[in-house]
Amino acid sequence: MIVLAIESSCDETSVSVVKDGKEILSLVTATQIKLHQPFGGVVPELAARNHLTYMIECFNKAILDANIEIDDIDLVAVTKGPGLIGSLFIGINAAVSFAYANNIKIIGVNHVEAHVYAALIEHDFKFPILSLIVSGGHTELVYLEKHNDFKLIGSTMDDAVGESYDKVSKMMGLSYPGGPVIDRLAKNGADIYNFPRINLEDSLNFSFSGLKSAVLNLINKKNMKKEILDTENIARSFQDAVIDSLIIKLKQATTIYPTKQIIIAGGVAANSELRKRIKEEFLNHEILIPHIKYCTDQAAMIGVRAYYERDLASHNLVIDADPGLSIE
Ligand code: KG4
Ligand code: ZN
Repeated sequence: MIVLAIESSCDETSVSVVKDGKEILSLVTATQIKLHQPFGGVVPELAARNHLTYMIECFNKAILDANIEIDDIDLVAVTKGPGLIGSLFIGINAAVSFAYANNIKIIGVNHVEAHVYAALIEHDFKFPILSLIVSGGHTELVYLEKHNDFKLIGSTMDDAVGESYDKVSKMMGLSYPGGPVIDRLAKNGADIYNFPRINLEDSLNFSFSGLKSAVLNLINKKNMKKEILDTENIARSFQDAVIDSLIIKLKQATTIYPTKQIIIAGGVAANSELRKRIKEEFLNHEILIPHIKYCTDQAAMIGVRAYYERDLASHNLVIDADPGLSIE
């Protein structure tokens, strides 16, 4: 089965052709990072406008790169949420127009579920699975006993992990997105500040606002004293606190939920230290972490996820964008 998949929920315009939920025949992504960098974060109106500019180009190149004819496409899949409403609209309208013009079935896909299914590109699932989703907008723990059966068992009470990375980078006057910047700086720093680790013992929920405030207080104090910011140590101390907190909650979850595989998904799963620590800390579990190029936003994961929901596809062209779409 050939799926043409479209992702435009945030600041990446992406189109992919995926065969049988596994083989990525093509993946074309136009990133807008440079455009949003001067603002220190994604500007929704700019993002939507740029999806419009690059969408057709991405469609054409994805079909060309995959070396297929339009007639070969069995299903069109598109992110329906969560995400920025204007950005979602552009992807959905492109997908619906293409499906209508070519009489192809269409399906709307949950972006966060798709992050988890990105692990299927290079691995196979063995249930039950525990997945930690860490992205710019999400920090969630989900449990799957079979395909399509997502059970949300924990989520953040305030900031998402990626959002915290982006904010801490901004506090230090560094660029957007903050994750890769802090990842790089932390390699040469030491955890000398010992920021607070998560402390919600009786739940599987996360909280990062306390950590963020601790970093901000430190930076403010240093600025007041006109001290030079030791960005490498701050980055390392922040990152160690984040990773320790994620591991504390994952370990707690494995004591409650019997688990064969652990999947780390979403943009923050690209973090080099997180990838290393998870493998060291969970020696009794099979760890699946997608290749870095499939951790951040792209349409290949939408094509993979759609394959497992293909029974829900139809010729109904009404797909509602849902900015707050949850996992269940
Ligand atoms: O999944 P994603 O591409 O978009 C959302 O769905 O949100 O995640 C983007 C987030 C950003 O906050 C970015 O700073 C973070 O992923 N990120 C990283 C790394 N690369 C991207 N965080 C930590 N370390 C990285 N290497
Ligand atoms: Zn994402």
